[in-house]
Amino acid sequence: MAIAYAPGKVILFGEHAVVYGRPAIAAPVAQVRAQATVQDAPPGSGLTLVAADLGETHVLGAPPSDAMRALEVTARNTLARLGLASPPDLRITIRSDIPIGRGMGSGAAVATALVRALAMHLGAPLPPDEVSRIVYETEIIHHGTPSGVDNTVIAHEQPVYFVRGQGMERFRVGRAFRLAIADTGIYSPTRVAVGDVRAAWQADPARYDALFDAIGTVVVAARRAIEAGDVVALGPLMQRNQALLREMGVSAPELERLIAAAQDAGAPGAKLVGAGRGGNMIALLEPGGEAEVIAALQAAGAARVLVTTVA
Ligand code: MEV
Repeated sequence: MAIAYAPGKVILFGEHAVVYGRPAIAAPVAQVRAQATVQDAPPGSGLTLVAADLGETHVLGAPPSDAMRALEVTARNTLARLGLASPPDLRITIRSDIPIGRGMGSGAAVATALVRALAMHLGAPLPPDEVSRIVYETEIIHHGTPSGVDNTVIAHEQPVYFVRGQGMERFRVGRAFRLAIADTGIYSPTRVAVGDVRAAWQADPARYDALFDAIGTVVVAARRAIEAGDVVALGPLMQRNQALLREMGVSAPELERLIAAAQDAGAPGAKLVGAGRGGNMIALLEPGGEAEVIAALQAAGAARVLVTTVA
């Protein structure tokens, strides 16, 4: 038997613009995770995928349901990478407490846990770069045109500075900082928000390219601040990033309510994370002020509030 995990993630700076070649900074979130368990199965039974949270089971090779397609492709691509022509007799059970469609990388984390567990069970654990490459193929099914930032940060499990087509750079976090992550409770598929931004960019490329460039400038400044341990500088940079995302049309009243509540309670910066339109937001926490911000987010209707440390 093999068991493997993968964390959730948040994009600290740069979502959407990263699809268009600007940089982004993302960090893993260990407080939520996906899990895959691989067990031997009776001879001739094939490879069975069990999505425990969805109550769905799928045998590799049968026509997959929409929900099981990404898992089917992930398992197939992993077997191909390991040089197996036909599926071994295995039962793989997948569970996750990462909320689906809320900007925390649930699809990429489930796929990462599956690749890791399957490769481990077959005696050929894969390095993070290879896991990330396989999961990128899965992300195409979920998102259409993924930048690759989600699979990268989740497979490497460390803060990354990422540019599409150039891959990731590791960078130093000069001083650890803490974030509240609050969920609007609204399901928002990445594919839809990314598709809407693409349509808007096609309709007005000059305006959207300028927004992407402005976000790129924020990301570069944020990396410098994080490396220098200048946490104070991150608040205004989050505010600026959020203003640009708002202008891009990917915020939502529920996100704005949580962002305003966090700021009113003293958070120096807050922004949506991931595709937006719903899902989660983050608020920068200051020592001594955490409890107030968390209480304010809960009072403003957050479905769940997590606290994580970026280090
Ligand atoms: C989704 O987590 C982040 C987006 O930038 C899409 C992508 O990078 O593929 C919205």
